Amino acid sequence: MKKLKMITTWLPLLMLLLLLGDRLFGWTYTAMAKEELREERNQVVETIMARRSIRKYKDEAVPRELMTEILDCGINAPNGQNKQSWEIRVVDDPGLLGDMSRAMAQAHPQLDSAMVGGCFRGAPVMVFIARDLSYDFSAYDCGLLAGNMMLSAWSKGVGSVCLGSPVRFLTDNDLCAPLLQRLGFSEGYELSLCVGFGYADEAPEAKPRDKFKYRFID
Ligand SMILES: Cc1cc2nc3c(=O)[nH]c(=O)nc-3n(C[C@H](O)[C@H](O)[C@H](O)COP(=O)(O)O)c2cc1C
Repeated sequence: MKKLKMITTWLPLLMLLLLLGDRLFGWTYTAMAKEELREERNQVVETIMARRSIRKYKDEAVPRELMTEILDCGINAPNGQNKQSWEIRVVDDPGLLGDMSRAMAQAHPQLDSAMVGGCFRGAPVMVFIARDLSYDFSAYDCGLLAGNMMLSAWSKGVGSVCLGSPVRFLTDNDLCAPLLQRLGFSEGYELSLCVGFGYADEAPEAKPRDKFKYRFID
């Protein structure tokens, strides 16, 4: 009974002290939350610095559930006026990817067929991103979407490569038109970027970056 009385007297007082301390000095929970945030931010930075373009993949499908998580990270990218000026199509059917590769090579007989036919870089999943032609910032929206997808994929052990060449090879001829139509983009949208995903079968070195590209202005 005495013990209970002591608890009921001192516990509210202790809680009040903690609350005041938290308000005044940012103790306890706030400090803990900040520490956790800093820790999380490090993980983001680590992922950014460790990501590489992958051009050799294991013959292993990426589960659709995992691709869905990656896609959700993509569509949560910042985008102009939240217009979400993109349309995204995911192809993980090796048959369709093979048809596309063959058609691209066939449509460009003047180019190295292995280079054109291999422009998907063997990725088992290809994400095709189209931009809304009526919005002048849609290309940036699509780029940010792709960036979010590639970083979230890397953080989950999935490699990726951003690809511009299939956009050219699929859109500059009539032979590939039926395959492009199969992607079913809406009227007013144009294929703008492709991103390949899969499990990496290589560990490339980081490509050098030019630090003189940025500077502070005083
Ligand atoms: C818009 C864009 C288009 C790209 N197109 C291709 C491509 O067609 N084929 C390819 O192998 N890599 C392509 N890449 C990947 C770049 O070559 C790669 O990001 C760059 O060399 C830096 O290497 P890292 O991604 O490993 O840091 C493209 C990247 C971007 C952002």
